[in-house]
Amino acid sequence: MNGATHASSGAVKEDRLWQRHADMAKLGGTPKGGVNRQALSPEDAAARNLLASWAKARGFSVSTDAIGNLFVRREGTDAHADPVMSGSHMDSQPTGGRFDGMYGVLAAFEALEALEDAKAKTKRPVIAVAWTNEEGSRFQPGAMGSAVFAQRYELDEMLQQKDWKGVVLKEALAETLKAAPAPMRTGLPGFALAGYVEAHIEQGPRLENEKKTIGVVTAIQGSRRYIVTVDGEEAHAGTTPRAARKDAYAAATRIASAMYEATTDKDDTLRFTIGRVEVSPGSPNTVPGKAVFTIDMRHPDNDVLAAHEKKLYDIVKSKAAPCPASIERVTNVPPTNFDTGVIDLVRDAANNLKLTNMDMPSGAGHDAMHIATLCPAGMIFVPCERGISHNEIENATPSDLAAGTRVLVEVLEKLANR
Ligand code: GLV
Ligand code: MN
Ligand code: MN
Repeated sequence: MNGATHASSGAVKEDRLWQRHADMAKLGGTPKGGVNRQALSPEDAAARNLLASWAKARGFSVSTDAIGNLFVRREGTDAHADPVMSGSHMDSQPTGGRFDGMYGVLAAFEALEALEDAKAKTKRPVIAVAWTNEEGSRFQPGAMGSAVFAQRYELDEMLQQKDWKGVVLKEALAETLKAAPAPMRTGLPGFALAGYVEAHIEQGPRLENEKKTIGVVTAIQGSRRYIVTVDGEEAHAGTTPRAARKDAYAAATRIASAMYEATTDKDDTLRFTIGRVEVSPGSPNTVPGKAVFTIDMRHPDNDVLAAHEKKLYDIVKSKAAPCPASIERVTNVPPTNFDTGVIDLVRDAANNLKLTNMDMPSGAGHDAMHIATLCPAGMIFVPCERGISHNEIENATPSDLAAGTRVLVEVLEKLANR
């Protein structure tokens, strides 16, 4: 229906969607108004259970796969048709915001409710999904649940991953799902999909700066993560002359500062972050015997990432002496170009709803980058205040969140009927 608001998108309830965000924000809520709901924590379990309780109250079915991805399903009229799916993640950064990921899950759930309220019949089932461990701040690598679903990462390997304290993912998952709404299924995750659309806050300032409500997402830049390990030798901080030291942290800082230098580009496109540094034994008067740090590097062009990866490896070799050092790549996700058909559907829906919009690539990673290898996929961005994200003060307006959800409903309904 060109130029008209479709009944189902008109059934999106801004207040209901906002209240659901407020309810979820209590789970892992922090004093500064953000959330600490890291993957497979008790707070993550609570969020899963709350979503499942809402789903059951609406008569939707709930299931969980072997990596803990949570699916809420509204049936279509054709029991044999492949479903369409929408969603994101409910886990957060340690000092995360209320909207990163959670918005995509709640927008998808609101879409199911709006379809239900509008008594809309779709040929295909529509599934709202909460993917396991998108953030990758507790367990590496991030976007794990969607990558296992897409068979990009091995289930068994992921189940063996350990968090920074040594907790094995398999154990944390079992604990999380103990009180879960649906038993964990055995067998490999993954099933055929007819389409996937993920709503998310932009996490950058462009929409706000350009006064647009909807970002029509065309692509996601590539990203790689690494762990650098530097071995030194513990020694007395007061007595050991500099020449006799093997100071792991001193070597790590030489490596890090050379890396910052090597990854600074003129047009500020390459993103390079050292986000976690661990120095041990962590005693003020012992020369550090070990330093470990993480690297997150991103760029839209895979060749640029490959060229800079070589520089990082060379720097570890040349700057560590007298300490042995190594660098290990833990993630390599190539850039994603979304399906042009889905991109057009998102733009058309925004225009039909008379919402200002612009095409844009994503600087952040999202589960959609993995699901895009399985089926036609795309994303919808809405603005967030001053572009701030991965921060407790992350904020968005109820009306923008609802606007993105109305676009989502229109796109899902189109995909679910073709
Ligand atoms: C997701 O949070 C990312 O790091 O891009
Ligand atoms: Mn996210
Ligand atoms: Mn995030």
